[in-house]
Formats: sequence, structure tokens, C-alpha cells
Amino acid sequence: MILFFILAVFSSARGLQVTIGQPTYEVARGDDVTLLCSFIPAAQPNPSTLVIITWSMEADSPVDPKIVIATFYSIKNQVDIKPSYKDRAEMTHDITGGRSTLTLRKVSMQDNRLWQCRVQIPGDEEGTPSTTTELVVLVAPSVPVVSVQGEAEYWNNINLTCVSEEGSPAPTYSWKTNDVTNTPRVFPPRTTEKNGVLSLFNISMETSGFFICTATNQVRSASSNFTLTVMPPSMKVGSTVAIIGGVVAGFLVLGLSYTAAGRRGTNLNRRMFKGK
Ligand SMILES: *[C@@H]1O[C@H](CO)[C@@H](O)[C@H](O)[C@H]1NC(C)=O
Ligand SMILES: *[C@@H]1O[C@H](CO)[C@@H](O)[C@H](O)[C@H]1NC(C)=O
Ligand SMILES: *[C@@H]1O[C@H](CO)[C@@H](O)[C@H](O)[C@H]1NC(C)=O
Repeated sequence: MILFFILAVFSSARGLQVTIGQPTYEVARGDDVTLLCSFIPAAQPNPSTLVIITWSMEADSPVDPKIVIATFYSIKNQVDIKPSYKDRAEMTHDITGGRSTLTLRKVSMQDNRLWQCRVQIPGDEEGTPSTTTELVVLVAPSVPVVSVQGEAEYWNNINLTCVSEEGSPAPTYSWKTNDVTNTPRVFPPRTTEKNGVLSLFNISMETSGFFICTATNQVRSASSNFTLTVMPPSMKVGSTVAIIGGVVAGFLVLGLSYTAAGRRGTNLNRRMFKGK
């Protein structure tokens, strides 16, 4: 009783207090989740007071206005759900108990963002009228794709990049390497590793081997094993083809001008012949 009195005095001094059940909700993609919002008004609103409860989510760009998904209006006892969420979202309300829930079914990565519960009571604008929670949609990392930036030739600097197309929360990446006999080895001293990008400096034949990248988030890990073959500059198939191609093109140009010169020569000969 005393506690209730203290709470009532405390909340009326602080105004409306809105809280959300958890600071973050984690849910696997495709599952359902229920967000809970609780509120303590400065004074218990009487039944004729208009109470509005709004659930919204952050827009794709955080600077854009929030997107309202569900709204409850106490006067008409009416719940409005955004049309594109009608078959996936459900809102409950309990004004005297100071509670509202938002259930999202079959969550997708679209729902992976900040969500806000906001309560509006006329004359009770002080305090904390809204609170946000982070909905984390869990998706396992997909098998990472490894690619090479730069030419894998002696004395070059190259990057090996590792990216999982999917994964939520965003995966972290780590690299390991084995030599050509598949024996684990350490990276050369200058090697750096950041956000899945492995930078190798002044590479040589000894750099050749297996490079294994692992993408990890709280759901699980996925790895790729990439075979790096470092070649002497002249051995690169690509540049060899380019050189041969260049030589052939050169012959063609020479050949054409040779033919043209030949024709002119023949005509000249004929005219000279006629003139005689
Ligand atoms: C490798 O990555 C670093 C840092 O992102 C960049 O500065 C460098 O130019 C890259 N090297 C190559 C060969 O692409
Ligand atoms: C690169 O490595 C070779 C030996 O493989 C060495 O002779 C050369 O000085 C190195 N270059 C640089 C820029 O470190
Ligand atoms: C990487 O791939 C090579 C060749 O396919 C294989 O021999 C080796 O065992 C693999 N290593 C790891 C750690 O998966």
C-alpha cells in the first residue's frame, strides 16, 4: 500500500513512463516475436480520456521519419495496422494494466531494426512517452565468397577479400592458412587482416597455398578454402594471351598496308606502260 503510494507520487512527479520489455529481442528469421510495452501514466486516465498507443519502426535511413505499423485509439477501441503488415502484425492493449504488445509473425530481414512504442495521453506529456528496442533477426552466415584484388604475381601486394552474402548480425571474419602440403603455417610478418580483407605484401612462390576464411555470427560459422597460386610475372596466362594478340594485330596492320602499296604499284606500272 505504502509502496503503491510512493510509486504513484514518484510517477506523477516524473510524468508518463513508457518502458519496453527487453532492450533487444532476438528471433530467428521466419519465427514469430512479441514485443511488450509497459506504461505508467502520471494519473490513471479515466475511461473518457483519449489514449493513443503507437508501434513504429525505424525507416531504412535513420534520419527519415519512423514508419507507423500499428496504432490503438482508446475512444473508439480501434486498432489500425499498416496495410502491408495486416496479415503479419497483431497489437493488443490493456489501458488499466498499462500494457500493449506487438506480435510480428514470420519475421524477415525487413524487421531487423529499431522499434518504438509511444503512448500519448492528453495533459501527460512530461516524462518518457516513448522507448525503443532493437529487434535482431538471426540469419546464419552464407558460405563466404573469397576473391583476389590485384595480380597474384611475385613481388606484388594483393588482398584476399571474404564476404558472406547473408548473415545477421553481420558476421566477423577470420583467416587461417596452410602451405601447399596442407600444413598450418603463420602469416608473413607484414600481413594485415581487417573486416575480412587479408592484405599480403611482396608475395612470392612461398605465399602459394590454402587460405581458409571463416565467417561467424551467433547463429553459426561457415568457411571457404581458397587456393592461391603465385606465378612469376611472365607466366601469367592472361598477359601471355594479350602479348600474342598484340603481335597478331601488328601483322594484320602491316599486311594491309603492304597489299595497298602493292595495288598502287600495279596501277602505276600499267599507266607507265600505256604512256610508253
Ligand atoms: C588492399 O586493400 C587496401 C585497404 O583496403 C587498399 O588500400 C589496397 O589498395 C588494396 N590493394 C589492392 C591490390 O587492391
Ligand atoms: C620483396 O621480396 C624480395 C625477395 O623475395 C626482396 O628481394 C625485395 O627486396 C622485397 N621487396 C620489398 C619492397 O620489400
Ligand atoms: C583446402 O582445399 C584443399 C584442396 O581442395 C584440400 O586439400 C585441403 O585439405 C583443404 N583444407 C582445408 C583446411 O579445408
